[in-house]
Amino acid sequence: MCRARRRRFDSTRASIVARAGVDSTPAGRRARARGCTLRVAIEPRPRWRARSAARASRVARSSARDAARAPQSRATTATTMPATTHATMRATSARATRARTTATATTARARATTTRVAGRRPTRCAVSASSDAAHAEASGAIDWHAMGFGLTTTAYMFKATCELGGEWVVEGVVPYGDLSLSPASAVLNYGQGVFEGMKAFRTSEGELLVFRPDENAKRCEEGAGRMSMPAVPRDLFRDAVLRTVSANAEYVPPVGMGSLYLRPLLIGTGAILGLGPAPSYTFLVYCSPVASYFKGGQLTPIDLTVEETYHRAAPGGSGSTKCIGNYSPVLKVQLEAKKRGFSDVMYLDAKENKYIEEVSSCNFFCVKGKTISTPSLQGTILPGITRKSICELAAARGFTVEERNVSIDEVMNADECFCTGTAVVVAPVGSVTYKGKTVKFCDGKVGPTSQAMYDELTGIQQGKLPDERGWNVKVPKFPISG
Ligand SMILES: Cc1ncc(COP(=O)(O)O)c(C=O)c1O
Repeated sequence: MCRARRRRFDSTRASIVARAGVDSTPAGRRARARGCTLRVAIEPRPRWRARSAARASRVARSSARDAARAPQSRATTATTMPATTHATMRATSARATRARTTATATTARARATTTRVAGRRPTRCAVSASSDAAHAEASGAIDWHAMGFGLTTTAYMFKATCELGGEWVVEGVVPYGDLSLSPASAVLNYGQGVFEGMKAFRTSEGELLVFRPDENAKRCEEGAGRMSMPAVPRDLFRDAVLRTVSANAEYVPPVGMGSLYLRPLLIGTGAILGLGPAPSYTFLVYCSPVASYFKGGQLTPIDLTVEETYHRAAPGGSGSTKCIGNYSPVLKVQLEAKKRGFSDVMYLDAKENKYIEEVSSCNFFCVKGKTISTPSLQGTILPGITRKSICELAAARGFTVEERNVSIDEVMNADECFCTGTAVVVAPVGSVTYKGKTVKFCDGKVGPTSQAMYDELTGIQQGKLPDERGWNVKVPKFPISG
């Protein structure tokens, strides 16, 4: 290695290890004074560990390698973003620019280390350093008024990896970007993956709050068990989510104008030919600012049709797991329903075709007098965190809350119906169509219970109402470097 290269290499290495607090050499002290250039989580953790300096430089290497492909990745990102997303981008904010500049600097540093290190293992899931390019596309100040539930890519995501039987190795907050996967990876071939959906909100005091992240951590852990994947330790899950929000703080919409939707994703990335668990796993948290899920805005009543032929899940299946394979099968039915003017589809139980299960991506409630009923958790529906919260809030308001079999006949005679979910929040049901008969609820307007539940839930989430149950977790300001 020539002297100049050696010096650059040493200086990059020193800045990594200095950041990790393990290098007290003059080079390390100089690097510390300069600040960190790579996003590496460094604190020792009880059940998972940060990447070592050596592994960190491999991250830099893979990032730099992907940087060489930046134009191609940029094109990919651009085409996967809905046109409306591009259309809503406006002039960038100063802080967003700063974040982008940091990402670019990181890429440049990463590039500097590349040429000096050998290639990476083929099964590795690489984070593309071209994410600063993706971010450049997306980080113009967003027209918050025009936002729906489309993907707007942000500056950063969180990443950790794990070998089967090993412990989690944390890369920490890294630039958002594409993944590089083996064609034989378990997630691509066998759908070995679970995901979560959760939200962060901005309060009028300028705080950032995440709603019940420990519930998502628990559900993710249970899902990992169902899909034979190593669970993400709950403290790692929570830390990952909070760091992702902190790093992407610019993208949390102003109070009352939406939220930052967080998507933790646990996938079997390792290559395997025969059916079996992947040899390695990746845990990511990426995010996107969002507003209303359904057309027409929050609290616009939705029209549902009851599906009689297809079922979403069956007893003994994986309906209660948020596994990736549960979602594409609903698209056929959902798309056909949308063509017929419906907002979404309600599924019935697979055994008797008589009891409500849930809607494609949300739970279902119906109201009769002072009783609120929702399908019980028997393994075929997702145990929604919003569902659980609404049950508690409704009970506290004096409703009788029943978790039991809810028949479609009962729904057709209800006073009011609504759906719940992280994405949909509380969505009033304007009508249900079953066997050619349509029943309208509350004259197709927002019912009083839906309105009350929506107001209370969003009030707590946005810090407008007291959080008596301690559901919100405040996001600390983490340094961007880890
Ligand atoms: C199938 C399904 N049901 C229900 C829900 C609602 O769950 P949660 O309230 O935890 O978002 C979701 C959304 O995640 C879902 O995908």
